[in-house]
Amino acid sequence: MKKTIAVIKGDGIGPEIVKEAIRVLDRIAEEFGHTFVYHEALAGGAAIDACGECLPQRTVDICMASDSVLLGAVGGPKWDDLPGSQRPEKALLEIRSKMGLYANLRPAILFQQLADASPLKPALVQKGIDFIVVRELTGGIYFGEHQTWQKGDECAASDLMLYTKREIERIARVAFDTAMKRKKHVTSVDKANVLDTSRLWRKTVEEIAKEYPEVALDHMYVDNAAMQLCKNPAQFDVILTENMFGDILSDEASMITGTIGTIGSSSLGEGTCGMYEPIHGSAPDIAGQNKANPIGTILSAAMMLKYSFGMEKESACVEAAVNTVLDGGYRTLDMMSEGKMLVSCSEMGTKIAAAIHKTKE
Ligand code: IPM
Ligand code: MG
Repeated sequence: MKKTIAVIKGDGIGPEIVKEAIRVLDRIAEEFGHTFVYHEALAGGAAIDACGECLPQRTVDICMASDSVLLGAVGGPKWDDLPGSQRPEKALLEIRSKMGLYANLRPAILFQQLADASPLKPALVQKGIDFIVVRELTGGIYFGEHQTWQKGDECAASDLMLYTKREIERIARVAFDTAMKRKKHVTSVDKANVLDTSRLWRKTVEEIAKEYPEVALDHMYVDNAAMQLCKNPAQFDVILTENMFGDILSDEASMITGTIGTIGSSSLGEGTCGMYEPIHGSAPDIAGQNKANPIGTILSAAMMLKYSFGMEKESACVEAAVNTVLDGGYRTLDMMSEGKMLVSCSEMGTKIAAAIHKTKE
């Protein structure tokens, strides 16, 4: 198969981690006889520096014309003082919105090899952590009107949180479809004791649930969900939630698995073209030092193989290679623990690529 991939390296550690994901994709292409053609595109701070805008039209065109998009991370202190509408992060939101990628899937899976790195008590970790956050990605407070104004000597700001029923219905279906392939349990997270958007959310999710009689549905307030994630993470299968709650809870979810560095994500809309990115940020503090963990990006690439290209075996092969290297005791700094071997970002990528063998599917 021949597939075109738009590559947005972005800022901070973005270029380093994307390089390793491409190394792994190239190994897959070699091993399975595929051709991956990469089209590099600028977005975020790198685009602001090169073209004066965070998301040049050319980048949008490249993404739209590709079979999928691989993204590193955007943002950094250099661009922090820019107004919201011009910040690097705006590029990410715009791509998600322009490509209609409303469903963001963020798995939280504990690699047993990293159990030591989890901040949770061993007794909780031993029960296993294996759930997925289904985050609505193109609505809610991220996309409502943002305003800041001055009246006399008082300054004020407002961000509008808005959801339509249709937006809730389609993301709810993604969550229920996902649950059907897993343990058939959806926990819908909202703040229905305070927010109108959450009350509409809850009512709509209950309606959609009727289409999935086999799936058990429960509701949880977001504050309680944040607590339950560290109290009893084994209770979750699929967490369905809106954009901002999903942003916050998915960081917490990743951390309890040991490190945010190993978690990838997929963002999909109606078609098969999606965007794949690790859930961590651009980590400016370690950028350019070859210290970052490329596994989140590599596992994002594995999700791309599965969801956008229908390459299930190839995807499983990448996951197996990651496991092999972790079994071998190799760790990047973020997941380092006593007795393990510290490797750099490029060493980790090289080792994973070398562990890719068709026979080890
Ligand atoms: C994420 C990030 C982004 C988000 C930022 C960089 C805009 O935190 O993908 O989780 O909030 O969606
Ligand atoms: Mg986030």
